[in-house]
Amino acid sequence: MKDKLKKEGTQMKSIVVYSSQTGNTQKLAKAIFKKLEGEKQIYKIEHAPDPSEFDLVCLGFWLMAGKPDSTSQEYLKKVKNQKLFLFATHGASAASQHAQSAMEFAKSLAPAANVIGTFNCPGQVSPNILEKARSKPVPPAWLADAPDAVGHPNEEDLKQLIDKLAQSLS
Ligand SMILES: Cc1cc2nc3c(=O)[nH]c(=O)nc-3n(C[C@H](O)[C@H](O)[C@H](O)COP(=O)(O)O)c2cc1C
Repeated sequence: MKDKLKKEGTQMKSIVVYSSQTGNTQKLAKAIFKKLEGEKQIYKIEHAPDPSEFDLVCLGFWLMAGKPDSTSQEYLKKVKNQKLFLFATHGASAASQHAQSAMEFAKSLAPAANVIGTFNCPGQVSPNILEKARSKPVPPAWLADAPDAVGHPNEEDLKQLIDKLAQSLS
């Protein structure tokens, strides 16, 4: 698996771009960056250059109101025909319809991209956000999954992420 990452990676110029408020998505971004081989750069989304000069774009976002956060949505619209690996963290469980449709929506924002893989991951939700969500007249559906997101992303999540990336590059 590692050899595959190395072989594919050295042939490409890669960029890892991530949006992260509380650090969950940043953890995934750093793990991806560490494993990529060849020419590579990593940026917080606010400082990221245009994706056009890269062969592989790895973009990480977090979910807000059931969608990728707005800065990630804007960046995705700039991705044209590059290889694209998408990763996301959220209070909802990875297999939930909520998380899966957000990933589909992210893909739809870069219709010309070659999406080589995606990875959904639970991400611990900060206490103040949980409080706000609970106090809504109709609490969001993802709130029910939030207790299971405590402690994520963890080492096992990072391992699965790197496996998925290697598979996607093969
Ligand atoms: C304002 C706000 C809205 C959120 N909305 C959702 C949501 O709609 N669905 C969800 O699953 N998680 C939601 N979350 C939880 C975050 O997506 C989750 O904790 C994520 O891992 C945060 O990533 P970060 O640490 O990289 O900022 C929300 C968090 C915040 C702060």
